[in-house]
Amino acid sequence: MSPYAHIIGWGMAVPEKVLTNADLAKRVDTDDAWIQSRTGIRERRIANSEQTTASLATDAALQALEIARLNPDKLDLIIVATSSPEHIFPATACLVQDRLGASNAGAFDLLAACSGFIFALNMATQAIRSGSLKNALVIGAETLSRFVDWSDRNTCVLFGDGAGAFVLQASEERGGVIASVMRSDGSGGDLLCVPAGGSFAPASLETVAMGKHFIKMNGREVFRFATRVIAQATVETVEKAGLKLDDIQLFIPHQANQRIVEAALRSMNVPIERCVLNIDRYGNTSTASIPIAACEAARDGRLKAGDKLVLVGFGAGLTWGAALAIWSGAPQQPGARPALPLPLRLRLYARLRSLLRRILRRIDAWIWGRYV
Ligand code: ACO
Repeated sequence: MSPYAHIIGWGMAVPEKVLTNADLAKRVDTDDAWIQSRTGIRERRIANSEQTTASLATDAALQALEIARLNPDKLDLIIVATSSPEHIFPATACLVQDRLGASNAGAFDLLAACSGFIFALNMATQAIRSGSLKNALVIGAETLSRFVDWSDRNTCVLFGDGAGAFVLQASEERGGVIASVMRSDGSGGDLLCVPAGGSFAPASLETVAMGKHFIKMNGREVFRFATRVIAQATVETVEKAGLKLDDIQLFIPHQANQRIVEAALRSMNVPIERCVLNIDRYGNTSTASIPIAACEAARDGRLKAGDKLVLVGFGAGLTWGAALAIWSGAPQQPGARPALPLPLRLRLYARLRSLLRRILRRIDAWIWGRYV
């Protein structure tokens, strides 16, 4: 029988710096009342100059590994879902792999915009269910504040920075992620995009002068699309698992706009009390919003072992998808698993290992370079 992919660790990281609606009203023609009533957002977190997508991802990952009591060298796979990678390449996931010292893991990035965490969770789950690996780390991490045009009131009020992570582990016991759907519709690609900086329109003085490296969005169209697909993907996933909406204890939607979530829940007759909403404090953190909301629900005791939850996302692409999971909780019998070295020590080991590898690569090149 295929093993199940249990969620045994979770972690989140958000920058300390808070940007309120009042702060934004000093930069663009907007006000707190408009932003709160149209989006539900009160404030968002913005990365400082030292924080990046990889650093937030690493912080969230270390927390998740600590809860899972899993040493990074036991990881077989790391997927970072992000729309704000550090570089076009190398993958942000490889930077995270190095910083964790996860020396046995394959690592890659996945780009499906705000649906990225759902897609990555599904990919890691399928890899575990196929029996090909045991432990996977799935991260959603963003510093979208670096792609926002701070003079465009249509978009700059929406986004925030942050990261969330899950550790998945194979187990014969039924549980973990048991059903999912992934969908896309590229015909709507232009509704939400960063027009330049890729191979279609490489960076040039002109593209920069025209602000084409910033997020462009047709808000009304995205709104309409989102309310429709959240309900569709949720219902389809629940049916795939052989369950009913009433069997689900908690819904964790992508936090893009409170009105989108409310409309989608209304269309499914699901009361808002069964849904996690934290958009007021973080805004839209794209791929990070679902795992951050899950972490807060677990921390606040809203998610208990055995609960069934639906995670559902949508985003640029267009993409959308959902996953239904039975929450496993943190591993029982802590004594049975070795305690992890402190995160600080883990970071230090990883840096030392990384440095040694660089030195060895140099020595290797010096020795072999003489014979070619
Ligand atoms: N402050 C004040 N007024 C504003 C602001 C602002 N920050 N932004 C827009 N307005 C104005 C508009 O200019 C417009 O004025 P006009 O009628 O004179 O042109 C008016 O408010 C109403 O605009 P609407 O587009 O109708 O406003 P709406 O209620 O749709 O809200 C919003 C706009 C919040 C962007 C909404 O459409 C939305 O949330 N859409 C979905 C966005 C989304 O989810 N994006 C992320 C997808 S996930 C991903 O992949 C990144």
